[in-house]
Amino acid sequence: MTRARLGLAALAALGLAGCSMAGAKGDDAAPADGAIRADLYQCEGCEGALEADAASLANHAAMASAGEPGEPLHIDGTVYTADGKTPAASVVIYAYQTNAEGLYAGGKPGTEASRRHGRLRGWVKTGADGRYSFDTIKPAPYPDDTIPAHIHFTILEPGKRPYWIDDIVFDGEFGVTPEYRRSMTNKGGNGIVPATRDARGRWSVTRDIILERHPE
Ligand SMILES: [Fe+2]
Repeated sequence: MTRARLGLAALAALGLAGCSMAGAKGDDAAPADGAIRADLYQCEGCEGALEADAASLANHAAMASAGEPGEPLHIDGTVYTADGKTPAASVVIYAYQTNAEGLYAGGKPGTEASRRHGRLRGWVKTGADGRYSFDTIKPAPYPDDTIPAHIHFTILEPGKRPYWIDDIVFDGEFGVTPEYRRSMTNKGGNGIVPATRDARGRWSVTRDIILERHPE
């Protein structure tokens, strides 16, 4: 059964209720250069970005504890303003993902996002150079589905509403099909990134981000 046929309660029971794929819902459209996206604030769970105290965030965070099953993954990148060149400071990134079984498992009571997004999540804030990084584990695709393994990023700029950008997915891996590529609109820049593995078995990806333009 595809996720589209599952109700929210059923998704929650399966540990899949964390999301729809950002940017893969078919209701986005790539804007003309410099235009504002009509769907900029359409988002599931973006309020999770507001859970952290932005003043206390660093530009690096661990999303997974040392005992989390899975292969270690390092994520880094630079956040740029909408011109695509100027590093953007003080931008909060809220990230969450499935575990090594493809599930949003181990969520905690407190907020809808903490319940639905599972235990693998984290927050960073860019410094003056726009850089950020996360350490986590490599997510698995949802069980019995065709959606690629992915990591959700929500962006929160100072004084703005949060918004989703295209998920991180691993170029060349399961589910990253020509159809999937066509469904992407480069929201926040390209999220389809190659994963490389070092001699110690640690995966790395770089996901640079270009901030979207806001209506106000
Ligand atoms: Fe998801």
